[in-house]
Amino acid sequence: MKIVILAGGSGTRFWPRSVKTRPKQFLSLTSHETMLQQTYRRYTRWLPEAEVYVVTAREYKTLVEAQLPELSGDRLLLEPEQRDTGPCIALTAQHFLSRDDDEVLVTMPSDHFTDEPEELVRALRIAAKAAERKTAIVTLGVVPTRPETGYGYIRTTEIVSEDGLLEASKFIEKPSLEVAEKLIRDSGVFWNSGIFVWKPSTIAHYMRMHQPFLWNMLTDRDGKAETTYSMLPKISIDYAILEKADSILTIPVKFKWDDVGIWTSLERIQQANEEGNILNGLGHVHAESTRNSIIYTDHPRTMVIGVNDLIIVSTEDGLLVCHKSEEQRIKSALQALERQE
Ligand code: GDD
Ligand code: MG
Repeated sequence: MKIVILAGGSGTRFWPRSVKTRPKQFLSLTSHETMLQQTYRRYTRWLPEAEVYVVTAREYKTLVEAQLPELSGDRLLLEPEQRDTGPCIALTAQHFLSRDDDEVLVTMPSDHFTDEPEELVRALRIAAKAAERKTAIVTLGVVPTRPETGYGYIRTTEIVSEDGLLEASKFIEKPSLEVAEKLIRDSGVFWNSGIFVWKPSTIAHYMRMHQPFLWNMLTDRDGKAETTYSMLPKISIDYAILEKADSILTIPVKFKWDDVGIWTSLERIQQANEEGNILNGLGHVHAESTRNSIIYTDHPRTMVIGVNDLIIVSTEDGLLVCHKSEEQRIKSALQALERQE
């Protein structure tokens, strides 16, 4: 089993702390270590270091090297540019297949929080055994606790092994709030943790079936890797493969897990003060008659008076003032802002 940490996303919903030149996986949001360092160490504590890889876009090579000096060059895989997780995982599979290496891969996000790595590694071992035997995608399913629209959902049917593996009948990526509310009322529905366990040949099988254009572009590139890669569709693996795949297995996991994907994720990880505020940053913050707000500022002095339920973030890259209920709009609003420039 190899762990391949995906560390090339842009983390735009954490703007303006997470920016294109330093996306959130390279920031310390929940501890003194960056999210990438935390993810890497989570696995190297339990598995041989030689089995842990990182894949990222070439522009982040120096950031990864600076944060993980112990990562040897052959365990750092580089994409010519950022094209989302579909092309990234296809390229990773081709990397190993070209070396006749079909050992099971755990493609793993770098933006997660979990407090029980031991339990996670236990689940991964069960998943790897199943992925070894079949042309199947094995996922880790988290019991949903709210109608989260930023996650994928897996509907499962029956238990297929004594290890507790479940057969999945449907994968729904980032549903609307209405659909998410219905999904969490049903039994046998899990959040997709974004951790996929599969062999490179299984990735190839599903790529050929559901993304032949993408897969063929990558295999036929004959040394034109740079130009070809930039022409690939920007598509996440969830839309590219998971929503279409016919053989998904799920192992339910019970530990505390969170995708630190948006500002309000911090509320589940960090203790708020008596007023319900989370105050972070380099500078000093004075909040008065202010409740349930998240404030991050790099200014030396910041004052916030008489507001509730806001996210206020100020860095040298920008200023965000957003009502918590509108947080999912940050990504598209940032695109609109960039179009004005
Ligand atoms: N190398 C590389 N290249 N990594 C990438 C790229 C890329 O082009 N794009 C994204 N990533 C990395 C991100 O850094 C992150 O660690 C991981 O891939 C997942 O990308 P996100 O952009 O964070 O996905 P998401 O959170 O919106 O959704 C996924 O994860 C959820 C759980 O965390 C989906 O799999 C959902 O179904 C799932 O619920
Ligand atoms: Mg994420």
